[in-house]
Amino acid sequence: MTTTYETLDAKPLTPHIGAEISGIDLSSPLSNAQARDVRQAWLDHMVLVFRDQTLTREDHKNFGRQFGRLHIHPLNHSRSGDEEILMVKTTANSPYTAGNGWHTDVTCEAIPPMGSMLYITEMPEAGCGGDTLFADMYLAYDLLSDPMKAFLETLTTVHDGALPYIGNYNVAAPEGQSYPKNEHPVVVTHPETGRKLLYVNSGFTTRIKGLAPAESRALLAMLFRHIAETPRLTCRVPWAENTLTFWDNRCTQHHAVWDYQPQSRYGERVSILGDERPVS
Ligand code: SIN
Repeated sequence: MTTTYETLDAKPLTPHIGAEISGIDLSSPLSNAQARDVRQAWLDHMVLVFRDQTLTREDHKNFGRQFGRLHIHPLNHSRSGDEEILMVKTTANSPYTAGNGWHTDVTCEAIPPMGSMLYITEMPEAGCGGDTLFADMYLAYDLLSDPMKAFLETLTTVHDGALPYIGNYNVAAPEGQSYPKNEHPVVVTHPETGRKLLYVNSGFTTRIKGLAPAESRALLAMLFRHIAETPRLTCRVPWAENTLTFWDNRCTQHHAVWDYQPQSRYGERVSILGDERPVS
């Protein structure tokens, strides 16, 4: 059922995660009422899909800036161009596609980005494929048993940028530096909604502190499987050219689906700096 906000409409993709937004043009600065409604819809639905948006790079960045300062991705030292833009480009010759596994963006940082906005401008030739799956980490937590929740709430994990950036993408850290590596609680409270959520992801989380290595591996494997094998956690965003999707990076994970090889797909992402460390 469509939710009507004062300045826009939100048509849910599933009852709990994802909504298509209509009634708003992102190329113009948002009014205060529009910015308030986008933010409320984002908190309510976690993943907002805006169709048929014709945006310049500056429009895209200005939309991001309505929600905070823009993030500079740790991989951008290896790329030329605008440091606030993360290019998401896959061609026939790409050795990998970015985000092809369940992850939350850049949780290796002490304060990971609060949200990301991906704007797709080039689709695979067939006009389909390259969907992105999103998963609701509130529900991932809610579905666990009470004894498991109580145990997880005592635990802290390590999130390491070297895992994806060197391990998957083979991009060395800047000369004389290493990628960020930080600790976060396994169960986190969302700073705006106050809801608890599961905060481990197979993209960055390498171990659980205080457990024996075999225990840490087994528990993380169970949690990663819980996320990957529970379809009801997810919504699926089918892209079209000029679609922008804005997700709450504090309570979701996503997974890009690489089903269009050897065709190409191109988009640009901006992310918004978070303002506090994840806390339990
Ligand atoms: C990402 O931000 O992880 C990429 C998602 C996508 O390409 O769909």
